[in-house]
Amino acid sequence: MVEPEEFLQFLKARRSIREFKDEEIPIEQIDMILEAGRWAPSASNLQPWEFIIIKDNEILAKISKLAFYGKFIKEVPLAIAIVGKIRTSSKWYIIDTSLVSMNMMLMAHALGIGTCWIGALKREKVKKLLGLGEGDYLLTVLPFGYYRGERIEPTPRKPLNKIIKRI
Ligand SMILES: Cc1cc2nc3c(=O)[nH]c(=O)nc-3n(C[C@H](O)[C@H](O)[C@H](O)COP(=O)(O)O)c2cc1C
Repeated sequence: MVEPEEFLQFLKARRSIREFKDEEIPIEQIDMILEAGRWAPSASNLQPWEFIIIKDNEILAKISKLAFYGKFIKEVPLAIAIVGKIRTSSKWYIIDTSLVSMNMMLMAHALGIGTCWIGALKREKVKKLLGLGEGDYLLTVLPFGYYRGERIEPTPRKPLNKIIKRI
């Protein structure tokens, strides 16, 4: 079991990382990130997903051009595209794959590896580049790499008293 207070601090310390070193990630650590994704919960345990591991620099450079706010993806040694299989779970594939992405991000954080959700993408073009078809939903492409900067500032959150209701 994880110590609860430590776990909360761990969650709070995760940041979106957008500057990366030119440094490879050991294969065992990539496997742990994939494994964390695989163990995400899904509606009726249908697991409507596939993960594409992208190591090809040219493809990463092309995705970078197709990202509005994710140009940094070309800096990483590796990215993982999270793909929802629409026909496997037509109602829940977006939620299920979103949970995959969170698991992967937290595993990366535990490993000292940075990542950032890239939502602002020309999805149809990236899908084509990755050879995806009609039944595939490209949730995001997560870049993974080691942080190049010195210190990352905390991002603010709305205070609890503004977002909770008691009934
Ligand atoms: C659905 C979603 C889409 C996002 N899209 C982008 C994006 O396109 N580019 C980017 O740099 N960050 C993106 N982010 C990261 C957010 O900007 C970031 O999570 C937020 O500012 C809070 O910062 P933190 O992750 O460091 O706590 C996205 C996050 C989510 C959850």
